[in-house]
Amino acid sequence: MPHYYSPDSAAGDHAIRGHIVTVKADPFLFSDALVEYNDGLIIIEGGVITAVGEYAEMKDKLQPDTHVDHHPDGIITAGFIDTHVHYVQTGIIAAFGAQLIDWLNTYTFVAEQKFADKAYADAVAKVFFDQLLANGTTTALTFCAVYPDSVDAFFEEASRRNMRMAGGKVLMNRNAPEHLLDTTQSGYDDSKALIEKWHGKGRNHYAVTPRFAPTSTQDQLEAAATLLREYPGTLMHTHVSENLGEIAWVKSLFPDANGYLDVYDRAGLLQPGAVLAHGVHLTAHERLRVHETGSAISHCPTSNLFLGSGLFHVHQAKNHTHPMKVGLGTDIGAGTSFSLLSTMNEAYKVAQLVQYPLDAVKMLYLATLGSAEAMGLEDKIGSIEVGKEADLVVLDTKATPLLEFRSAQVETLEEQLFVLATMGDDRVIHTTYIAGNVAYSRDGH
Ligand code: GUN
Ligand code: ZN
Repeated sequence: MPHYYSPDSAAGDHAIRGHIVTVKADPFLFSDALVEYNDGLIIIEGGVITAVGEYAEMKDKLQPDTHVDHHPDGIITAGFIDTHVHYVQTGIIAAFGAQLIDWLNTYTFVAEQKFADKAYADAVAKVFFDQLLANGTTTALTFCAVYPDSVDAFFEEASRRNMRMAGGKVLMNRNAPEHLLDTTQSGYDDSKALIEKWHGKGRNHYAVTPRFAPTSTQDQLEAAATLLREYPGTLMHTHVSENLGEIAWVKSLFPDANGYLDVYDRAGLLQPGAVLAHGVHLTAHERLRVHETGSAISHCPTSNLFLGSGLFHVHQAKNHTHPMKVGLGTDIGAGTSFSLLSTMNEAYKVAQLVQYPLDAVKMLYLATLGSAEAMGLEDKIGSIEVGKEADLVVLDTKATPLLEFRSAQVETLEEQLFVLATMGDDRVIHTTYIAGNVAYSRDGH
């Protein structure tokens, strides 16, 4: 039986031993980004990695009373980071038959109204965090609903689990049902109060969250930019250029703007820590602006396929002259899986359809360090290195009979990682560590 554990604040120093694999640089730009310790050791103090290397070379550093978790059969890697997900859409995964705007009107805006009820929001937040941990996801950048209570439910649960999480209240003051709308002033005031309450408390980060250009007036987008200036270090989270009908709509709503991205650019929303979901149809000039402003794209392949939005060109996004920061997103509930392994699998197929073989090291990077860089958190999370927080996942290469059979044939680490990405999902997640403590164990021990 899977088991979830509460954070153990009394946990002393300890260590984790096994086959350690991590990506410590951007493999789209640098070779030798992958680091491997075949029989490695991670020493953890106060939730932070203080040493990592080969066990044989490090065992003398271990204090006699240090507890060592040994995973002789797994692959230990950095916890997965989901750069775009809607916890309030957990209940509408797999909603049939619509593309973006119809999907929003038919399913999403109906589902999000339920989050006016705090008890309901609390219950869904619990399901959501259980799913993150069971899928090896240790950090996520999350849309909440328009209601401040839905943000409280989110950060209360994040705090209980001691997870490094980012989220925010959706800002939308037009083009949605009456009950889901705020105003420029109330959206600003509510966001400000939530930032004061949650940002920087424990491991929580607030994200100023205008839903997308069609549901905010110019005024509201500018108020969002004011919040970002007033609270440096807060993130910005929105959607951009996901669907061709959406792009045409933005053009008609903002006729003076020079394209979709320019709506956000003119409002002052583009900066490091700004994460824009999708960007499937960005022009070369828009990609350059994302690069220049230090903003990031969250690539959400399961969602882009499910809603028929289009194919993201990851090799264009990560070109050598003006690479954008790119992370992976599940985009639940338009996305179809909480698993970043499944998301890698679909990212591979999307890249294949535009003639680019996306290799496993690049996929693992996108799901870990690339996502941390997109959120501006690469000094804290995203790889297994000294000084980073010990948010880790242990992957079981023998999780199913077929995976065990296939893993027995692999000849290289890259091949093993590719097999895990292609065939893996939550069944592969053996253990998830948060700040060095076991938070989830698939087998309950
Ligand atoms: N664009 C605006 N809102 C949404 C949303 O909730 N999901 C997706 N995928 N795209 C959006
Ligand atoms: Zn989304």
